[in-house]
Amino acid sequence: MKNIDSKNHVTGRSVYLDDVPEVAGTLYGAAFGSPVAHGHLRAVHLAEAAKVPGVVRIFTARDVTGENQIGGIIPDEPLLAEHKVDFCGMPIAFVVATSDEAARAAVKLITADIEPLPVITDPREAHALGQLIVPPRTFRLGDTAAAWDTCAHVLAGRADSNGQEHLYIETQCAYAVPQENGGVKIYSSTQSPTAGQRTAARVLGVPMHQLEVEVQRLGGGFGGKEDQANAWVGLCALAAHLLHKPVKYVLHRLEDMAMTGKRHPYSTDYKIGLDKDLRILAFEVSYYQNAGAAADLSPAIMERTLFHSTSTYFVPNVTATAYSCHTHLPPNTAFRGFGGPQAKFVMEAAIAQAAEQLGVDACVIQKQNLNRTGDEFPFGQKAVSEAHACWHKAEELYDIDQLRREVEQFNATNTLLKKGLAFMPICFGISFTNTSMNQARALVHIYYDGSVSVSTGAVEMGQGVNTKMLQVAAQVLSIDPGRVRLQSTSTSRIANTSPSAASATADLNGRAVQLACEALVGRLREVAALELGVPESAVALRDEQVLVHNQPSALDWKKVVTAAFLRRVSLSEHAHYATPEVHFNKATEKGHPFAYHVYGTSITVVTMDCLRGTYAVDAVKVVHDFGQSMNPAVDRGQIEGGIVQGIGWMTMEELLYDPTGRLRSNTLSTYKVPDIYSAPKEIAIEPLATDTDNLAIFRSKAVGEPPFMYGIGTYFALRNAIKAFNPQSPVAFDAPMTPEKVLLALYPEAPASAPTRSHERSRVATA
Ligand code: MOS
Repeated sequence: MKNIDSKNHVTGRSVYLDDVPEVAGTLYGAAFGSPVAHGHLRAVHLAEAAKVPGVVRIFTARDVTGENQIGGIIPDEPLLAEHKVDFCGMPIAFVVATSDEAARAAVKLITADIEPLPVITDPREAHALGQLIVPPRTFRLGDTAAAWDTCAHVLAGRADSNGQEHLYIETQCAYAVPQENGGVKIYSSTQSPTAGQRTAARVLGVPMHQLEVEVQRLGGGFGGKEDQANAWVGLCALAAHLLHKPVKYVLHRLEDMAMTGKRHPYSTDYKIGLDKDLRILAFEVSYYQNAGAAADLSPAIMERTLFHSTSTYFVPNVTATAYSCHTHLPPNTAFRGFGGPQAKFVMEAAIAQAAEQLGVDACVIQKQNLNRTGDEFPFGQKAVSEAHACWHKAEELYDIDQLRREVEQFNATNTLLKKGLAFMPICFGISFTNTSMNQARALVHIYYDGSVSVSTGAVEMGQGVNTKMLQVAAQVLSIDPGRVRLQSTSTSRIANTSPSAASATADLNGRAVQLACEALVGRLREVAALELGVPESAVALRDEQVLVHNQPSALDWKKVVTAAFLRRVSLSEHAHYATPEVHFNKATEKGHPFAYHVYGTSITVVTMDCLRGTYAVDAVKVVHDFGQSMNPAVDRGQIEGGIVQGIGWMTMEELLYDPTGRLRSNTLSTYKVPDIYSAPKEIAIEPLATDTDNLAIFRSKAVGEPPFMYGIGTYFALRNAIKAFNPQSPVAFDAPMTPEKVLLALYPEAPASAPTRSHERSRVATA
């Protein structure tokens, strides 16, 4: 089934927050963000700004009627700075005016007296100073200390991966409209309506029932609106509450890029030991996560990093430690993969280094160590593995021998152009690692004309979840999909939602829709049995018909619905789903945190221009473990998008904070994201046929985050291309592999005497 939004998207009819018709008298907000990254806030000067025509009021921390706090996991983040600023862009004041232009003109006239404090942008430096967000955590399996002696090869190294700007097309925004009796209705571009509701309740000092958060859809989220949508909700709700006027704030791209956190940069030390047959016997790793200036979701992301330390490989002895380091960058946050890709990059760096030192192709070590069903992850769960199946199918289907020959021949006959090839086998755990979040609800109404309305806690952000919810309802009710309408996501209809995140949204909410629809079908069968005077066991609903012993009866969908209404039988159901089987014990760091894992293997081929350092991705060829895809078109879209986004992270997207903590790559002219020209020339996606049972909705495995990691293959393919040109080049594991870095790696001897600007920038980038 086609994505139900596709036609409206391409014709511009889809409704985003800024398309919601504005209520008369709507005011416009804009935040004044801290110009420095760290300091004591002595005074804020608002007088000049207040004189700008149209300015209604300027809010500061003093105006907060409830708690000046938006921290979700840890209460360490004020909505508006009080005595201290902790990052550049941290909101200090919120101007509300009769026009967007007036609000922004006023912001420019605000000044603050800030006594500067030392700025830390490097997680290792923060760690050395004991500046951690939460205590470190260690996952253990076997005994690494004892294992080193049994290894034929032991080597150690360091890997760095930079952050990533989400670059959702729709910037952060919120619109708060006062209701009677002190209520506020809030439109928010958020992945987590309940988090917005909770934040507004906290900031206003009112019960959650005073607030409704409603979301029609997002123009992209990617994790960036999981927690970071809350600040704007808090500001607009506060202003609306105090002014009794609707207040809207849509961030400009520059504000959004400067004020919001990104994917966490990681700096990591590892040690890996292999036996003579290239089996990995031991892996020790210390992750330094650059959390930024507040916890945000960092502790949860750090946890997912630990859960993915060995990726898709079985390693019998593991010690993995993670440090969430407090720096003065905007609080870094969720981004597709949620710490998993960072761990994956390190594991693959360790394998690449081992391969190089031992003179084998990395794929030999990769293949040798893929996990198998029954293998234990360092956190205690046993794998139900498709790793070998995906790998073998990829080798066969894409004729790896031929591919390899082509690359070798090309490299043998070309001097200034080189190709590189890399495998990237993936494995990603599905479920929120915080077990309690694995729950969802759905509300299904059948109207007495036979049309159906479905509300869930899922937020549509382009990933196609509403299409899948519609499919679930139509399939379980056995009716034409045209009868079903997906409603907006509202905290008044569905309460206490988990964010649409962790790739688990379709599973959790889909199961709830399934349960609701099954309950309704049960009631309709009862009604039909009474109407037709047959036993209920003989009745079935199929393709809009009521069947008795599989034969058509006098009743169809509409008639049985009408009959149910006339018999005063409820045509509405609110269902609750909680993932069974998942649990985790943080004291022992063992358990069964994931409903299942998603596997896959990609083969990436790149061509490098070794004169210029530029490159193109020739192909990404994938065998992916869909389970049984309930919507191949939607799922392929997720995979293609994930691959390109992953390639962006690994190649051209270079976040640069200077030593004062200011983001220098704060526009699309200085921060390059993949465009159609940098997308792979070919993306091939083949499903792995499998009938393994799983907990996914209709066995259709989650697809949001896992494919992002296929993009990591591009990094290693590029690295191999560099090595084909210059085998002596010491290529550091320092992503992204920008053309600039490629050029320096191709000719490492050239600029050694005078450190180039680029060297310095790279240092800052990973700092
Ligand atoms: Mo997603 S990175 O779990 O919002």
